[in-house]
Amino acid sequence: MSTLAKNDPAVAALVAKEEARQQNKLSMIPSENFFSPAVREAVGSVFMHKYAEGNIGGRYYEGNAVIDELETLAVDRARQAFQVPADWSANVQALAGSNANLAVYLATLEPGDTMMAMYLPDGGHLSHGWSFEPSKSKRESDADSGSLVYHGGSRKVNITSRMFKVVQYKTDPDTKEFNYDELEKIALEYKPKLLITGGTAYPRDIDYRRVRAIADAVGALYMADIAHEAGLIAAGVIPSPVGIADVVTMTTHKTLRSGRGAIILAHQDLLTKINRGVLPGLQGGPFNNNIAGICVGLGEVLTDEFKTYARQVVNNNKQLAADLQTKGFFLVTGGGDKHLLLIDLTKEPLQGKYFARALDHAGIVGNMNGMPQDTRPPANPSALRLGTPWVTTRGMKEAQMKQIASWVREVMDHAAQWADLEFDAFEEQIMQSPTIATIATDVAALCQKFPLQLKTTETIKNQ
Ligand SMILES: Cc1ncc(COP(=O)(O)O)c(C=O)c1O
Repeated sequence: MSTLAKNDPAVAALVAKEEARQQNKLSMIPSENFFSPAVREAVGSVFMHKYAEGNIGGRYYEGNAVIDELETLAVDRARQAFQVPADWSANVQALAGSNANLAVYLATLEPGDTMMAMYLPDGGHLSHGWSFEPSKSKRESDADSGSLVYHGGSRKVNITSRMFKVVQYKTDPDTKEFNYDELEKIALEYKPKLLITGGTAYPRDIDYRRVRAIADAVGALYMADIAHEAGLIAAGVIPSPVGIADVVTMTTHKTLRSGRGAIILAHQDLLTKINRGVLPGLQGGPFNNNIAGICVGLGEVLTDEFKTYARQVVNNNKQLAADLQTKGFFLVTGGGDKHLLLIDLTKEPLQGKYFARALDHAGIVGNMNGMPQDTRPPANPSALRLGTPWVTTRGMKEAQMKQIASWVREVMDHAAQWADLEFDAFEEQIMQSPTIATIATDVAALCQKFPLQLKTTETIKNQ
């Protein structure tokens, strides 16, 4: 029996339950991944016990010689993984992607300055700012201008919008992709001090050089947030903004598969300011154990095996996109260049909330999502977001994507009969459905063929 099971059976039981969920379901939320036993062992290591406020070689607490060595190794590996220029370095201390972005704002903007980022409902990220007009529905505020620029409203939802003037650019209404000419016009009109690309639900590659030219035209600093794509970029399977943007931020726990945290890359001069944005600007002691996880994960990223993995993530996503289209689904932008896709449900009987829950009961875990020109509320939006990072970590390939697409269609067709019910009644029907139960059993059987290594090496050694 494990120490946890002996000392705290309640938490041990929850861990076991979550392990079973992860083992027996297909996790297809594109921002999630499953980390190696070595990464998890490092995250659970004694590094968690140490306070290390400050930077390498300049801490406010004694006893940090080993932490300095660890952080130096993590920074070196980050520089190598992203092939940064010789005068660039990395910050690995930000506790999360949102903190990393805020640290950049603290270092580069004054309160009230203008920044420009992708429109949240089109796939941008909350940490790039969001506000709306409470007196109007989101759709009304959207329809306001008919243009591709969004100025926000009086309700400032997060700190970015409270502190700065956030102007957001939308995707093209026809292609649902970036319209660089419009982006340029908006930048020329609003002259942001900071121009941001990156988001959570944009299925296509970004033309970083084009955005760099736009930033230069208006004298803006360019920040590329590659939280989602970091692993694919490090592996060289999609284009990189490193050496093009002024600063690159990312999370480490999505395609990068390196435990939870964030990395900021920039020229050493800018990074010195950003480091002060992280501490004392935003946070106290770094999570050294997470930095250990990131360090181990980056070691894995540098291997050929990871490059093969990242290539397969993209191949799987393209296969899944093709198979879903064969099954009659429409995809936003017609597919995807990376690790994620958005199913446009506007012509389907079930919308985001209902479909996501029905799929979850069938063992396929995705998430409801808004999409460009969505006319539905965020609580039940018009799209479903799926991604391939985690299923590819399990070793799944194109043949399994075909099977998954088939199940996704089957769930939609079967659950459609209850589309008009209130949500709770709908879920009740789904939970009682033998068809959904059969799919869940088949999904679990597939998962058993591609098992996750749940135990860390440390746990195995102690058994
Ligand atoms: C583009 C982008 N930036 C930032 C973040 C924020 O990361 P975190 O959840 O670690 O704060 C995310 C997370 O989903 C993201 O997708």
